[in-house]
Amino acid sequence: MAGSDRTSFARGFSDLDVETNVARLPVKGAFPPWLCGTLLRTGPAKFDIGATSVNHWFDGLAMLHRFSFADGEVAYSNRFLRSDTFQRSMDRGGLADGGFATDPCRTLFQRVASVFSPRFTDNGNVNIDSFGGEPVALTETLLPVRFDPETLAVLGHHPMSAEVGGMISIAHPHHDATRQCRYSYVVEFGRRSQYRLFAIPDDGSAQRVVATMEVDKPSYMHSFAMTERYLILTEFPLVVDPLRMMLNLSPFIRNYRWLPERGLRFHVFEKDSGRHVVSHTTEAAFAFHHINAFEADGELKIDAVVYPDAAIIDQLYLSRLRAGEPVTATGQPTRFTVPLADHGTVTAASLASGMLELPRIDYGRCAGKPYRYVWGNGRTPDGLFLDSILRVDLETGAVARWFVDGCYPGEPVFVPRPGSTDEGDGVIISVVLDAHCGTSFLQIMDSISLSDIARAQCLHTIPFGLHGCYYPRAEEGRMARM
Ligand SMILES: [Fe+2]
Repeated sequence: MAGSDRTSFARGFSDLDVETNVARLPVKGAFPPWLCGTLLRTGPAKFDIGATSVNHWFDGLAMLHRFSFADGEVAYSNRFLRSDTFQRSMDRGGLADGGFATDPCRTLFQRVASVFSPRFTDNGNVNIDSFGGEPVALTETLLPVRFDPETLAVLGHHPMSAEVGGMISIAHPHHDATRQCRYSYVVEFGRRSQYRLFAIPDDGSAQRVVATMEVDKPSYMHSFAMTERYLILTEFPLVVDPLRMMLNLSPFIRNYRWLPERGLRFHVFEKDSGRHVVSHTTEAAFAFHHINAFEADGELKIDAVVYPDAAIIDQLYLSRLRAGEPVTATGQPTRFTVPLADHGTVTAASLASGMLELPRIDYGRCAGKPYRYVWGNGRTPDGLFLDSILRVDLETGAVARWFVDGCYPGEPVFVPRPGSTDEGDGVIISVVLDAHCGTSFLQIMDSISLSDIARAQCLHTIPFGLHGCYYPRAEEGRMARM
């Protein structure tokens, strides 16, 4: 483990083995009285399993974290997501199911056997969402893990309809409040592979396929874009030959190749009809996260955190993070303007200079619509890892920053003030690692100025997580994405 101050962020990649239930965390400052609900987060928290370690940050076994707010007090509990993959990994003494960049299949025989009887990971360490009103932990397969939001106990898999099928999916569905459903997509690998966009109705009824597209070499896409009328697949030139993947001994992501000559492709589909509207190609780029998208003047504005290539994936291997090696790849918030007509060209413009990742917006008000504010994690000029929180005003270009030396904040989750009608009126919540002290705390800040409001002190290090959701108390019984 790295020891110097500058590399102390490596503490965020340590295992957390304790499971706790703390009724009242020590609090500094005053939590807003209206903040009454629960923040549920997931992330990789166990990297050393038996005598082996996983290869990549994204392969750590998932842990759920629950921060519950009421009357100015904060309760906290954490529990491993006891998924099938978790249980099998504990029994085996090593990661049991193929992950992002770690594959337990060591021999050609085992690999071929797994092709005929694939066993996908359900290690939901990427995101929390709600399917049919129930919270689920998601990874990039179609095995959403239901869990009890009070006890964090696993309740089984959310049933998925056979019509959807597919092998690889995403952990970033979009919610459409008008149509009362979520949208997501899967990739079906085969001699003729297919992207399938599908809907997950809020009422818990069966999922249905919305649109399909055949593809020769499927792309690795961590998220997609949605406007009020359209779903857009942003197809990065990080692609896989499905046949080679099945016969190759490499872990999942190692089968993908960066082919910049393919360019970056936008495929636009109409939500209501499933019709493929248009596809456009521009210069190669990579992204994990879309920020938002909307229609304006007959064009689409598609905002994403854009890297020049996919080198960021290689920089997140566990051994180099634990050694304190810097993550230098810079994801920049970028706006693509994509014509809805089949002529015209795609243009790209920077929304802010410097690194911004794990972007969040005022999703309840602005998903798929014009918007003003984006929050995300930044990296200061001397920083080796994400070390700050940024608020970007897309109207004025103004940027606010929250930074405390030696502290590493996670994804900033926006929580709207109940009853407010103004975009961005609320607070930001972030789980922060204090690398000097070796403990984490939960920070609440003003959403616009990013000034401190209050914090709740945890008793241990919470490994860097990925994503989470806040649920106001009234909705805890039947959760709706914020
Ligand atoms: Fe993500």
